[in-house]
Amino acid sequence: VIVDPDGLSVDQSYTLLIGSVVPRPIAWTSSISAAGKRNLAPFSFFTVVSVAPPMLLIAIEPASDRAMKDTISNVRQTGNFAVNVVSLELADEMAFTSEEHSPDVDEFEIAGLTPVRSEVIAAPRVGEALITMECVLEQTLKPGDYDLLIGRIVRFHISDELISDGRIDIGKLRPLGRLAGTYTAVDRIFRLPLGGAPASARQ
Ligand SMILES: Cc1cc2nc3c(=O)[nH]c(=O)nc-3n(C[C@H](O)[C@H](O)[C@H](O)COP(=O)(O)O)c2cc1C
Repeated sequence: VIVDPDGLSVDQSYTLLIGSVVPRPIAWTSSISAAGKRNLAPFSFFTVVSVAPPMLLIAIEPASDRAMKDTISNVRQTGNFAVNVVSLELADEMAFTSEEHSPDVDEFEIAGLTPVRSEVIAAPRVGEALITMECVLEQTLKPGDYDLLIGRIVRFHISDELISDGRIDIGKLRPLGRLAGTYTAVDRIFRLPLGGAPASARQ
């Protein structure tokens, strides 16, 4: 089928996007309100937008019938957030923090996670995460219906056991990937070429 997105409802567009842009990494985002209330929530509309300086982007759904998502309201108040990487072992805790909890609920507490003080920013990080990136809000954008938060990484926290030959060992990190409502684990890692010539040279 060929689809012109102009004719799609929001739900239809969302369904095509989450099935086509896969697998997606998950930014398990911790933040804190000006009053000091901690928050934690996952976002898979997430990518790198700059290397020097290092910057990340998360895209947050517009507010519907309920108030603004706590993450965006906290980041607007305090100007910082931390992105924690979700290893397979933390999948259930991550999913639990995605449920709608009122702003006065501390998702660290209800998910049984350890809030650890960050080095530079006010938002805490997830003690159990093997990688956390402390971010300072650099820019907000709204090119479409989602709010984009661009954060500049001011600290990487990387578990020592992950480092081999100066690189991060993805096999040890075991990052969780988001599909269309489902998830995937990294259980096969390989280099290219797989073998054989590229399709264009095979004719
Ligand atoms: C794996 C996963 C990925 C998600 N990705 C997004 C996303 O990219 N953008 C978004 O707005 N919501 C996303 N959500 C939903 C939010 O996590 C959810 O609305 C959450 O309650 C927001 O929390 P907050 O109000 O504490 O900020 C995702 C949920 C899950 C489980």
